[in-house]
Amino acid sequence: MNTTILELRDVAIYQKENLVLSGINLKVRRGEFVYLIGKTGSGKSSFMKTLYGDLPLTQGSGNIVDFDLKTLKEKEIPFLRRKLGIVFQDFKLLPDRTINDNMLFILKATGWTETEKMNMKIEEVLDKVGMKTKGFKFPHQLSGGEQQRVAIARALLNDPELILADEPTGNLDPQTSVEVMNVLREINKAGRTILMATHDYALLLKFPSKTLKCDGSKVFEVVQKSV
Ligand SMILES: Nc1ncnc2c1ncn2[C@@H]1O[C@H](COP(=O)(O)OP(=O)(O)OP(=O)(O)O)[C@@H](O)[C@H]1O
Ligand SMILES: [Mg+2]
Repeated sequence: MNTTILELRDVAIYQKENLVLSGINLKVRRGEFVYLIGKTGSGKSSFMKTLYGDLPLTQGSGNIVDFDLKTLKEKEIPFLRRKLGIVFQDFKLLPDRTINDNMLFILKATGWTETEKMNMKIEEVLDKVGMKTKGFKFPHQLSGGEQQRVAIARALLNDPELILADEPTGNLDPQTSVEVMNVLREINKAGRTILMATHDYALLLKFPSKTLKCDGSKVFEVVQKSV
């Protein structure tokens, strides 16, 4: 079995004509929990967008969950995203429907048809994040931390090989951040690979793990002491 889940070779990332990051060489192996840090504007979100096909890979080469980013076609992007679980800072839940219906929406959009199987899957993922009893609620009836748990549950619906989380605790208070982080850590312990962009140094200190840093248009691995 291939233990490398993400590999980039000599990648440069642009926003329009502006170079954001260059000379990126890295590997993420199955089961790792990797932080991506760096100050605002250093390129964390651009890096993530390249990985989920929102920014095309124009320079260098890369593989992620067995997709070749360089040759990725527009019509393959939904299939790539099914193998990724993507979590954002602002949750991105659909406000006009309940949590259960948010989940059903994704399952139907990704080809699920059997009601019973869908209901079982929804219960399973909500249970993983401690939200099993809240499926009937609307997003606005939940706290920020609860909404983020639901967003993580949603990211798990298609059993992703890799979870990409861009500042998942960015809108949460410190205590709620730790709770959401614990959910992500449990998911990682259960075997899923996680790449998480964050500016939250308190979390890094509390839960040390492999750390990549974007700085001066480069991405490099840092030892915890020097972050
Ligand atoms: N859609 C866009 N169009 C043009 N330039 C962009 C776009 N998005 C980001 N940029 C630029 O790319 C650079 C990297 O931004 P990016 O959003 O990747 O940084 P970040 O590390 O995620 O920052 P933050 O910590 O604030 O989220 C910045 O100079 C930014 O202005
Ligand atoms: Mg960002």
